[in-house]
Amino acid sequence: MTENRIENSAGREVIVAEHAGFCFGVKRAVEEVYRQAQEGAKPVYTYGPIIHNEEVVADLEKRGVHALEGAKELSQVHEGTIIIRSHGVEKKIYDQITAQGLTLVDATCPFVKKIHRIVAERSSAGDDIIVIGSASHPEVQGIVGWSSVPVTVIGSEEEAKGYTCTVDRPLTIVSQTTFNYEKFNKIVEILTSMRYDNYNILNTICNATEERQTEAKKLAAGVDAMIVIGGKTSSNTHNLFEICKKESANTYYIQKLADFDIRLLPTRGCVGITAGASTPNKLIEEVSKHVRNEF
Ligand code: F3S
Repeated sequence: MTENRIENSAGREVIVAEHAGFCFGVKRAVEEVYRQAQEGAKPVYTYGPIIHNEEVVADLEKRGVHALEGAKELSQVHEGTIIIRSHGVEKKIYDQITAQGLTLVDATCPFVKKIHRIVAERSSAGDDIIVIGSASHPEVQGIVGWSSVPVTVIGSEEEAKGYTCTVDRPLTIVSQTTFNYEKFNKIVEILTSMRYDNYNILNTICNATEERQTEAKKLAAGVDAMIVIGGKTSSNTHNLFEICKKESANTYYIQKLADFDIRLLPTRGCVGITAGASTPNKLIEEVSKHVRNEF
C-alpha cells in the first residue's frame, strides 16, 4: 500500500497510512497458499485460517483449500499438504504432520521462526522463559510450544506485577511479534525492577508492527477521525485501534465496509485510515473510496 492522501470536492481529506495492510510475512504466506491451491497436490489445508479475513478464507475454500481448526481435525487428515500460516505453530504440530505422512509447507514468518529458535535454544540451556503477549493468540501458543521448560506468558502490567521469580535461573524475555511497543517497554520495566541481573531481554516485536504502530499514532494525532480496518480476532489490529483511540476519540474499528456508518464521521476535516497486517488491500481501497465519496 503506498501513501494515499486525497482531497475530495468538498475540500475534505482522506489519508491512508503508508503501511496499512499485508505485512511481508502475511503476504508471503497468502501467496504460498494460492500457489499451492493452483499447483500443489490436492487436497490442501491450512493449519488455521490463513488470515483474519472471511472473504479470503472463503475464496480459498472455493479453490479447495480447507482451514483446519486444530490438532484434532488434523488427526483426521490422511493425505495432502498442510500449510503452516505466518503465525507459526508448536513443534508438536510439525511432528504430528510428519508422523501422519503429510506434506508440510512451512509459511511461518521468518521473524516468528527466529523466536522459536531463541526459545528452543535458551530453554534447553536452562533459562526460564517469559513471552510478553496474549496467551490466547496462536502465535504465542506456537512460541510456547518450542520451549522445553514451562513458559510464563505476560500480557499486561498487572500480570507483570504478579510475576514472582521463584528460582535463580537466567531469564529470557521475548515478545509476540505484534505486541504493543509501549506496553512491552512498561512490562519489561516492571519485570527487570524485580530482578537484579541475569536476564536477557529480546525485543522481538517485528519492524513491520513497530513501523505501523508509530505511523498510526502520528496519523491519528493529526486527523479529525480515524478508521482502523481488520479482523475481530487480529491482535495487531486491536493494538492499532488502542493506539489510535488514545490519540483520537473518534476512532472506529471495522471489519468490512458494511460495518461502518459514515454518519459517525465529523462533517468536516480529515479522516485517517489504517489497517492490520492481514487486511487485504482490496478492502482498504474499498473503505477509502467509500469515505472519499461519501464524506
Ligand atoms: Fe512477520 Fe511481522 Fe508480519 S512477524 S507476519 S512481518 S507482522
